[in-house]
Amino acid sequence: MKLETFALERWMTKYESWVKYDIAESGILPLNIDDLLGLLPAGERASALEKLTGLRLGYSEAPGTHELRSLLAETYRDCAPENILVTTGAIEANFLLFNVLLDPGDHVVACYPAYQQLYSVPRGIGCEVALWRVRSKDGFRFDVGDLERLVTPRTRLIVVNTPHNPTGAMLSEAELRRVYALAESVGAMVLCDEAYRWLTVPGGDPFAPPMFDLGPRGISVGTLSKPFGLPGLRLGWIAAHGDLAARCWAMRDYVSLSPGRLSDALAVLAVRHREKIFERNRAIITANLATAKRWFAERADLISWQPPRGGLLALARYHLDIPSLELANRLAERYNVMLAPGSAFGFEHHLRIGIGQDPAVFAAGLDQAAACFAELAASSSSRQGSAAPAE
Ligand SMILES: Cc1ncc(COP(=O)(O)O)c(C=O)c1O
Repeated sequence: MKLETFALERWMTKYESWVKYDIAESGILPLNIDDLLGLLPAGERASALEKLTGLRLGYSEAPGTHELRSLLAETYRDCAPENILVTTGAIEANFLLFNVLLDPGDHVVACYPAYQQLYSVPRGIGCEVALWRVRSKDGFRFDVGDLERLVTPRTRLIVVNTPHNPTGAMLSEAELRRVYALAESVGAMVLCDEAYRWLTVPGGDPFAPPMFDLGPRGISVGTLSKPFGLPGLRLGWIAAHGDLAARCWAMRDYVSLSPGRLSDALAVLAVRHREKIFERNRAIITANLATAKRWFAERADLISWQPPRGGLLALARYHLDIPSLELANRLAERYNVMLAPGSAFGFEHHLRIGIGQDPAVFAAGLDQAAACFAELAASSSSRQGSAAPAE
Protein backbone atom coordinates (compact mmCIF):
# COMPACT_ATOMS: atom_id res chain seq x y z
CA MET A 1 0.00 0.00 0.00
CA LYS A 2 1.37 3.42 -0.97
CA LEU A 3 0.16 6.16 1.39
CA GLU A 4 0.23 9.93 0.89
CA THR A 5 2.08 11.92 3.56
CA PHE A 6 -0.23 12.69 6.51
CA ALA A 7 0.24 16.45 6.15
CA LEU A 8 -1.15 17.58 9.51
CA GLU A 9 0.67 14.94 11.57
CA ARG A 10 3.99 15.88 9.93
CA TRP A 11 3.39 19.55 10.80
CA MET A 12 2.17 18.89 14.36
CA THR A 13 5.14 16.69 15.28
CA LYS A 14 7.51 19.42 14.17
CA TYR A 15 6.28 21.78 16.91
CA GLU A 16 4.05 20.08 19.50
CA SER A 17 6.76 18.96 21.89
CA TRP A 18 8.27 22.42 22.44
CA VAL A 19 5.76 25.15 21.52
CA LYS A 20 4.33 26.62 24.72
CA TYR A 21 0.76 27.44 23.65
CA ASP A 22 -0.70 24.62 21.60
CA ILE A 23 -4.16 25.77 20.58
CA ALA A 24 -4.09 23.72 17.39
CA GLU A 25 -4.54 20.59 19.52
CA SER A 26 -7.49 18.45 18.47
CA GLY A 27 -8.28 17.07 21.93
CA ILE A 28 -9.34 18.22 25.39
CA LEU A 29 -6.81 18.89 28.17
CA PRO A 30 -5.70 15.34 29.14
CA LEU A 31 -6.41 13.80 32.53
CA ASN A 32 -3.75 12.18 34.68
CA ILE A 33 -4.10 8.99 36.71
CA ASP A 34 -4.89 10.96 39.88
CA ASP A 35 -7.74 12.68 38.04
CA LEU A 36 -9.07 9.28 37.01
CA LEU A 37 -8.90 7.91 40.55
CA GLY A 38 -10.54 11.13 41.75
CA LEU A 39 -13.64 10.17 39.74
CA LEU A 40 -14.25 7.35 42.25
CA PRO A 41 -16.03 7.80 45.57
CA ALA A 42 -13.35 8.64 48.20
CA GLY A 43 -13.71 5.27 49.95
CA GLU A 44 -12.87 3.32 46.78
CA ARG A 45 -9.72 5.15 45.65
CA ALA A 46 -7.13 3.30 47.74
CA SER A 47 -8.33 -0.14 46.66
CA ALA A 48 -8.58 0.97 43.01
CA LEU A 49 -4.97 2.21 43.14
CA GLU A 50 -3.85 -1.04 44.73
CA LYS A 51 -5.62 -2.98 41.97
CA LEU A 52 -3.83 -0.92 39.32
CA THR A 53 -0.36 -1.21 40.85
CA GLY A 54 -0.91 -4.94 41.36
CA LEU A 55 -2.11 -5.52 37.81
CA ARG A 56 0.04 -8.11 36.04
CA LEU A 57 1.17 -6.56 32.80
CA GLY A 58 0.69 -9.62 30.65
CA TYR A 59 -1.05 -9.66 27.29
CA SER A 60 -4.64 -8.52 27.55
CA GLU A 61 -7.78 -10.19 26.18
CA ALA A 62 -7.14 -9.71 22.46
CA PRO A 63 -10.39 -7.90 21.49
CA GLY A 64 -10.31 -5.76 24.68
CA THR A 65 -11.45 -6.98 28.10
CA HIS A 66 -15.03 -8.20 28.33
CA GLU A 67 -15.61 -5.57 31.02
CA LEU A 68 -14.56 -2.69 28.78
CA ARG A 69 -16.42 -4.02 25.74
CA SER A 70 -19.59 -4.47 27.84
CA LEU A 71 -19.38 -0.90 29.10
CA LEU A 72 -18.86 0.45 25.58
CA ALA A 73 -21.66 -1.75 24.16
CA GLU A 74 -24.08 -0.19 26.65
CA THR A 75 -23.59 3.17 24.95
CA TYR A 76 -25.31 1.82 21.78
CA ARG A 77 -28.76 0.35 21.10
CA ASP A 78 -28.94 -3.48 20.92
CA CYS A 79 -25.18 -3.84 21.02
CA ALA A 80 -23.35 -6.83 22.57
CA PRO A 81 -19.71 -6.98 23.72
CA GLU A 82 -19.07 -9.13 20.59
CA ASN A 83 -20.02 -6.12 18.43
CA ILE A 84 -17.15 -4.15 19.95
CA LEU A 85 -13.46 -4.40 19.11
CA VAL A 86 -11.14 -2.30 21.29
CA THR A 87 -8.35 -0.88 19.13
CA THR A 88 -5.19 1.20 19.36
CA GLY A 89 -7.06 4.49 19.03
CA ALA A 90 -9.72 5.40 16.50
CA ILE A 91 -6.86 5.50 14.01
CA GLU A 92 -6.40 1.73 14.14
CA ALA A 93 -10.16 1.22 14.11
CA ASN A 94 -10.49 3.17 10.84
CA PHE A 95 -7.41 1.49 9.34
CA LEU A 96 -8.72 -2.03 10.06
CA LEU A 97 -12.19 -1.21 8.75
CA PHE A 98 -10.87 0.19 5.47
CA ASN A 99 -8.64 -2.83 4.95
CA VAL A 100 -11.35 -5.35 5.79
CA LEU A 101 -14.16 -3.69 3.85
CA LEU A 102 -12.39 -2.40 0.73
CA ASP A 103 -10.65 -3.82 -2.33
CA PRO A 104 -8.68 -2.01 -5.05
CA GLY A 105 -11.05 -0.40 -7.54
CA ASP A 106 -13.96 -0.05 -5.06
CA HIS A 107 -15.86 3.22 -5.11
CA VAL A 108 -15.81 5.13 -1.83
CA VAL A 109 -17.29 8.50 -0.90
CA ALA A 110 -15.47 10.31 1.92
CA CYS A 111 -16.15 13.67 3.55
CA TYR A 112 -13.66 16.46 2.80
CA PRO A 113 -11.77 18.19 4.31
CA ALA A 114 -11.20 15.56 6.96
CA TYR A 115 -8.83 13.82 9.29
CA GLN A 116 -6.66 12.76 6.38
CA GLN A 117 -6.75 9.05 7.13
CA LEU A 118 -10.44 8.98 6.14
CA TYR A 119 -9.70 9.45 2.45
CA SER A 120 -5.95 8.74 2.10
CA VAL A 121 -6.12 5.13 3.33
CA PRO A 122 -8.94 4.16 0.90
CA ARG A 123 -6.85 5.82 -1.84
CA GLY A 124 -3.78 3.87 -0.68
CA ILE A 125 -5.77 0.64 -0.97
CA GLY A 126 -6.44 1.58 -4.60
CA CYS A 127 -10.06 2.68 -4.26
CA GLU A 128 -11.66 5.35 -6.36
CA VAL A 129 -12.47 8.01 -3.76
CA ALA A 130 -15.07 10.71 -4.44
CA LEU A 131 -14.92 13.64 -2.00
CA TRP A 132 -18.06 14.92 -0.30
CA ARG A 133 -16.98 18.53 0.14
CA VAL A 134 -18.19 20.67 3.00
CA ARG A 135 -19.95 23.87 1.94
CA SER A 136 -18.34 26.99 3.33
CA LYS A 137 -20.83 29.73 2.53
CA ASP A 138 -22.31 31.25 5.73
CA GLY A 139 -20.52 28.75 7.96
CA PHE A 140 -19.49 25.16 7.28
CA ARG A 141 -22.08 22.47 6.64
CA PHE A 142 -22.44 19.25 4.66
CA ASP A 143 -25.27 19.10 2.13
CA VAL A 144 -26.71 15.58 1.80
CA GLY A 145 -27.96 16.56 -1.68
CA ASP A 146 -24.27 16.79 -2.74
CA LEU A 147 -23.67 13.29 -1.35
CA GLU A 148 -26.65 11.96 -3.31
CA ARG A 149 -24.96 13.13 -6.52
CA LEU A 150 -21.68 11.33 -5.61
CA VAL A 151 -23.03 7.93 -4.55
CA THR A 152 -23.29 5.39 -7.39
CA PRO A 153 -24.50 1.78 -7.59
CA ARG A 154 -20.78 0.85 -7.30
CA THR A 155 -20.26 2.68 -3.99
CA ARG A 156 -19.08 0.24 -1.30
CA LEU A 157 -18.51 2.63 1.58
CA ILE A 158 -19.56 6.13 2.68
CA VAL A 159 -17.22 7.73 5.23
CA VAL A 160 -18.53 10.52 7.43
CA ASN A 161 -17.27 12.30 10.52
CA THR A 162 -19.55 14.13 12.92
CA PRO A 163 -18.83 16.35 14.82
CA HIS A 164 -16.40 17.25 12.08
CA ASN A 165 -12.65 17.69 12.24
CA PRO A 166 -11.61 20.38 11.18
CA THR A 167 -14.75 22.57 10.80
CA GLY A 168 -16.93 21.69 13.83
CA ALA A 169 -19.87 21.05 11.45
CA MET A 170 -22.45 18.46 12.50
CA LEU A 171 -24.86 16.14 10.72
CA SER A 172 -28.32 16.14 12.27
CA GLU A 173 -30.24 12.95 12.99
CA ALA A 174 -32.41 13.52 9.89
CA GLU A 175 -29.29 14.02 7.74
CA LEU A 176 -27.58 10.92 9.12
CA ARG A 177 -30.72 8.90 8.42
CA ARG A 178 -30.66 10.15 4.82
CA VAL A 179 -26.99 9.11 4.57
CA TYR A 180 -27.87 5.67 5.92
CA ALA A 181 -30.84 5.28 3.53
CA LEU A 182 -28.64 6.29 0.63
CA ALA A 183 -26.05 3.64 1.57
CA GLU A 184 -28.83 1.06 1.91
CA SER A 185 -30.20 1.91 -1.53
CA VAL A 186 -26.90 0.91 -3.20
CA GLY A 187 -25.82 -1.85 -0.79
CA ALA A 188 -22.98 0.20 0.76
CA MET A 189 -21.85 0.51 4.38
CA VAL A 190 -21.48 3.75 6.36
CA LEU A 191 -18.44 4.32 8.56
CA CYS A 192 -19.07 7.21 10.93
CA ASP A 193 -15.96 8.48 12.70
CA GLU A 194 -17.43 9.59 16.02
CA ALA A 195 -14.14 10.61 17.63
CA TYR A 196 -15.89 13.77 18.94
CA ARG A 197 -18.98 12.03 20.32
CA TRP A 198 -20.23 13.44 23.66
CA LEU A 199 -18.38 16.74 23.17
CA THR A 200 -21.31 19.14 23.17
CA VAL A 201 -20.82 22.87 22.75
CA PRO A 202 -23.01 25.51 24.44
CA GLY A 203 -25.25 27.01 21.76
CA GLY A 204 -24.26 24.16 19.38
CA ASP A 205 -26.39 21.41 17.82
CA PRO A 206 -27.96 18.39 19.53
CA PHE A 207 -26.20 15.07 18.86
CA ALA A 208 -27.67 12.48 16.52
CA PRO A 209 -27.68 8.82 17.63
CA PRO A 210 -24.47 6.95 16.80
CA MET A 211 -24.38 5.36 13.32
CA PHE A 212 -24.39 1.83 14.81
CA ASP A 213 -27.91 2.51 16.11
CA LEU A 214 -29.27 3.26 12.63
CA GLY A 215 -29.04 -0.31 11.37
CA PRO A 216 -26.87 -3.20 10.15
CA ARG A 217 -24.98 -1.09 7.60
CA GLY A 218 -23.95 1.44 10.24
CA ILE A 219 -20.47 1.37 11.80
CA SER A 220 -19.42 3.64 14.65
CA VAL A 221 -15.80 4.41 15.53
CA GLY A 222 -15.11 5.85 18.97
CA THR A 223 -12.11 6.81 21.05
CA LEU A 224 -10.89 7.46 24.58
CA SER A 225 -8.73 10.26 23.13
CA LYS A 226 -11.13 13.19 22.66
CA PRO A 227 -14.25 12.93 24.86
CA PHE A 228 -12.36 11.24 27.70
CA GLY A 229 -9.18 13.33 27.55
CA LEU A 230 -7.04 10.17 27.44
CA PRO A 231 -5.14 10.10 24.11
CA GLY A 232 -2.10 8.63 25.85
CA LEU A 233 -3.99 5.39 26.52
CA ARG A 234 -4.13 4.91 22.73
CA LEU A 235 -7.51 3.24 22.96
CA GLY A 236 -10.42 3.44 20.59
CA TRP A 237 -13.05 1.02 19.36
CA ILE A 238 -15.25 -0.24 16.55
CA ALA A 239 -18.97 -0.87 17.07
CA ALA A 240 -20.23 -2.94 14.14
CA HIS A 241 -22.98 -5.43 13.32
CA GLY A 242 -22.67 -9.08 12.30
CA ASP A 243 -19.15 -10.46 12.21
CA LEU A 244 -17.42 -7.24 11.15
CA ALA A 245 -15.74 -6.58 14.53
CA ALA A 246 -14.46 -10.20 14.49
CA ARG A 247 -13.08 -9.79 10.96
CA CYS A 248 -11.25 -6.63 12.01
CA TRP A 249 -9.90 -8.50 15.03
CA ALA A 250 -8.57 -11.26 12.72
CA MET A 251 -6.65 -8.60 10.75
CA ARG A 252 -5.42 -6.96 13.95
CA ASP A 253 -3.69 -10.25 14.86
CA TYR A 254 -1.06 -9.11 12.34
CA VAL A 255 -0.84 -5.47 13.48
CA SER A 256 -0.93 -4.80 17.22
CA LEU A 257 -2.43 -8.05 18.56
CA SER A 258 -4.26 -6.62 21.58
CA PRO A 259 -4.81 -3.37 23.49
CA GLY A 260 -2.43 -2.51 26.34
CA ARG A 261 -3.49 -4.14 29.61
CA LEU A 262 -3.01 -1.02 31.75
CA SER A 263 -4.75 1.21 29.21
CA ASP A 264 -7.72 -1.13 29.19
CA ALA A 265 -7.96 -1.01 33.01
CA LEU A 266 -7.78 2.80 33.08
CA ALA A 267 -10.33 3.01 30.27
CA VAL A 268 -12.77 0.94 32.36
CA LEU A 269 -12.54 3.60 35.11
CA ALA A 270 -13.05 6.42 32.63
CA VAL A 271 -16.01 4.89 30.79
CA ARG A 272 -17.71 3.90 34.04
CA HIS A 273 -17.48 7.46 35.36
CA ARG A 274 -17.81 9.27 32.05
CA GLU A 275 -20.50 11.73 33.14
CA LYS A 276 -18.00 13.37 35.52
CA ILE A 277 -15.42 13.66 32.73
CA PHE A 278 -18.02 15.16 30.40
CA GLU A 279 -18.93 17.71 33.08
CA ARG A 280 -15.25 18.70 33.33
CA ASN A 281 -15.08 18.95 29.52
CA ARG A 282 -18.11 21.24 29.45
CA ALA A 283 -16.44 23.64 31.90
CA ILE A 284 -13.28 23.81 29.73
CA ILE A 285 -15.23 24.23 26.49
CA THR A 286 -17.51 26.91 27.96
CA ALA A 287 -14.57 28.97 29.25
CA ASN A 288 -12.58 28.70 26.00
CA LEU A 289 -15.58 29.39 23.82
CA ALA A 290 -16.25 32.65 25.67
CA THR A 291 -12.58 33.68 25.37
CA ALA A 292 -12.49 32.80 21.68
CA LYS A 293 -15.74 34.62 20.88
CA ARG A 294 -14.35 37.80 22.46
CA TRP A 295 -11.02 37.41 20.66
CA PHE A 296 -12.61 36.93 17.23
CA ALA A 297 -15.08 39.78 17.78
CA GLU A 298 -12.21 42.17 18.58
CA ARG A 299 -10.40 41.49 15.29
CA ALA A 300 -13.22 40.64 12.88
CA ASP A 301 -11.50 42.60 10.12
CA LEU A 302 -8.49 40.23 10.31
CA ILE A 303 -9.93 36.82 11.12
CA SER A 304 -13.38 35.29 11.42
CA TRP A 305 -14.84 31.95 12.48
CA GLN A 306 -17.97 29.91 13.01
CA PRO A 307 -17.81 28.40 16.53
CA PRO A 308 -17.97 24.58 16.46
CA ARG A 309 -21.55 23.20 16.35
CA GLY A 310 -20.12 20.22 18.27
CA GLY A 311 -16.69 18.77 19.11
CA LEU A 312 -13.67 20.95 19.69
CA LEU A 313 -12.52 22.31 16.35
CA ALA A 314 -13.10 25.22 14.03
CA LEU A 315 -11.50 26.44 10.83
CA ALA A 316 -10.98 30.21 11.01
CA ARG A 317 -10.59 32.36 7.86
CA TYR A 318 -7.98 35.12 8.02
CA HIS A 319 -7.75 38.15 5.75
CA LEU A 320 -4.00 38.60 5.35
CA ASP A 321 -1.87 38.01 2.31
CA ILE A 322 0.24 35.13 3.68
CA PRO A 323 -0.08 31.38 3.00
CA SER A 324 -1.38 29.39 5.95
CA LEU A 325 1.72 27.20 6.29
CA GLU A 326 3.99 30.25 6.44
CA LEU A 327 1.67 31.91 8.96
CA ALA A 328 1.43 28.78 11.14
CA ASN A 329 5.23 28.39 11.09
CA ARG A 330 5.67 32.06 12.03
CA LEU A 331 3.17 31.73 14.89
CA ALA A 332 5.02 28.68 16.23
CA GLU A 333 8.60 29.88 15.74
CA ARG A 334 8.29 33.55 16.68
CA TYR A 335 5.24 33.63 18.96
CA ASN A 336 5.35 30.20 20.61
CA VAL A 337 1.78 29.39 19.64
CA MET A 338 0.38 26.60 17.47
CA LEU A 339 -2.58 27.09 15.15
CA ALA A 340 -2.73 24.45 12.40
CA PRO A 341 -2.34 25.50 8.75
CA GLY A 342 -5.54 25.21 6.71
CA SER A 343 -3.45 24.02 3.77
CA ALA A 344 -3.13 20.65 5.54
CA PHE A 345 -6.90 20.36 4.93
CA GLY A 346 -6.91 21.90 1.46
CA PHE A 347 -8.26 25.21 2.88
CA GLU A 348 -5.77 28.00 2.19
CA HIS A 349 -6.03 31.22 4.24
CA HIS A 350 -7.53 29.28 7.14
CA LEU A 351 -6.15 28.13 10.50
CA ARG A 352 -7.55 25.30 12.60
CA ILE A 353 -8.15 26.14 16.25
CA GLY A 354 -9.06 23.71 19.05
CA ILE A 355 -11.04 24.82 22.12
CA GLY A 356 -10.03 21.96 24.42
CA GLN A 357 -6.84 23.37 25.94
CA ASP A 358 -6.35 24.47 29.54
CA PRO A 359 -8.27 27.80 29.62
CA ALA A 360 -5.23 29.76 30.88
CA VAL A 361 -3.00 28.34 28.12
CA PHE A 362 -5.75 28.91 25.57
CA ALA A 363 -6.14 32.59 26.53
CA ALA A 364 -2.36 33.14 26.58
CA GLY A 365 -2.06 31.44 23.18
CA LEU A 366 -4.68 33.75 21.72
CA ASP A 367 -2.80 36.77 23.15
CA GLN A 368 0.33 35.58 21.36
CA ALA A 369 -1.60 35.07 18.13
CA ALA A 370 -3.06 38.59 18.52
CA ALA A 371 0.47 40.03 18.67
CA CYS A 372 1.40 38.18 15.46
CA PHE A 373 -1.75 39.35 13.65
CA ALA A 374 -1.19 42.95 14.81
CA GLU A 375 2.39 42.88 13.53
CA LEU A 376 1.37 41.43 10.17
CA ALA A 377 -1.51 43.89 9.78
CA ALA A 378 0.80 46.83 10.61
CA SER A 379 3.47 45.73 8.14
CA SER A 380 0.90 45.14 5.40
CA SER A 381 -0.68 48.59 5.92
CA SER A 382 2.77 50.26 5.97
CA ARG A 383 3.63 48.41 2.72
CA GLN A 384 0.42 49.65 1.19
CA GLY A 385 1.20 53.14 2.52
CA SER A 386 4.72 53.19 1.06
CA ALA A 387 3.42 51.81 -2.25
CA ALA A 388 0.96 54.71 -2.53
CA PRO A 389 1.99 57.36 -5.06
CA ALA A 390 3.56 60.52 -3.53
CA GLU A 391 1.35 63.54 -3.66
C1 LIG B 1 -11.69 12.57 13.27
C2 LIG B 1 -10.60 11.80 13.93
N1 LIG B 1 -10.59 10.47 13.84
C3 LIG B 1 -9.64 9.73 14.42
C4 LIG B 1 -8.61 10.32 15.12
C5 LIG B 1 -7.56 9.44 15.77
O1 LIG B 1 -7.72 9.48 17.14
P1 LIG B 1 -7.09 8.41 18.13
O2 LIG B 1 -6.33 7.42 17.33
O3 LIG B 1 -6.25 9.17 19.08
O4 LIG B 1 -8.27 7.78 18.81
C6 LIG B 1 -8.55 11.70 15.23
C7 LIG B 1 -7.44 12.37 15.93
O5 LIG B 1 -7.25 13.55 15.90
C8 LIG B 1 -9.59 12.47 14.63
O6 LIG B 1 -9.60 13.80 14.72
